Amino acid sequence: MQGSTAIPEALTGALRAARRVCVLTGAGVSAESGVPTFREAQTGLWEKYRPESLATMEAFLADPAFVWKWYRWRRELVAKSRPNAGHIALAELERRFDEFTLVTQNVDRLHRAGGSQNIVEFHGDLFADICIAGCADPAANDDEIPYCNHCGNLLRPGVVWFGEAIPQQALYRSSEAAERCDVMLCVGTSSQVYPAAGLTGLARQSGAVTAEINPEPTGGPEFNFVIAGQSGLILPELVASLEQSSDE
Ligand code: OAD
Repeated sequence: MQGSTAIPEALTGALRAARRVCVLTGAGVSAESGVPTFREAQTGLWEKYRPESLATMEAFLADPAFVWKWYRWRRELVAKSRPNAGHIALAELERRFDEFTLVTQNVDRLHRAGGSQNIVEFHGDLFADICIAGCADPAANDDEIPYCNHCGNLLRPGVVWFGEAIPQQALYRSSEAAERCDVMLCVGTSSQVYPAAGLTGLARQSGAVTAEINPEPTGGPEFNFVIAGQSGLILPELVASLEQSSDE
């Protein structure tokens, strides 16, 4: 394992040679857009609220108004935020490769807003309203507790809650991308929540070069490279390093 604040030349070289790239992102990528991360002291959302009291089906069924209140607060906060230089750099990176998959644990849509195309929203979409009985396209409304206009059941936010399975299509697409990629970047995640956290190990086992980008790296054994720094600074540097290399 190598560690540095600059982009290791060997990583730039691996990216230049790569045809397939996979990137896993977490809450840290949106930190510079003003969206709080989950596990950092002081600023993390979970510091103020116990996740099990908000982000489970049991909690939702026990008090849907309370859980909806929290999610509406998060929607308002996220709606005010804009993609940062890290999001933009990932969209630029995508344009350079034949196959590029961005697997994000974030539910904030900021990768879409930043211009990324092939995105797997692994933990869902904060702004989607879904029917707990599975009806398609239920209409949203502003009631304290919204109900499905097809079947009358509760609507819930379209995010994956604790104890719930990752939607099959998201799991399939991301596992396939991790297995097939030549380079995998793991950016702004504490790598504590599975199965997302297992994707980089899967890529490494399948022969990919792997790199972590995080101001407080986990330094896990699955990483070939560790770059300590904020994604809004490091990712544009990474893209610039490819431009320099290809100009040579
Ligand atoms: P965490 O809050 O666990 O971790 C955020 C990571 O971002 C930490 O490792 C920070 O060091 C890093 N970080 C902070 N600022 C950064 C910056 N400017 N640039 C890069 N990295 C930075 O968030 P996740 O790993 O995304 O699940 O959490 C995973 C899942 O746990 C979330 O998707 C959520 C939560 O339970 C669901 O909602 C289902």
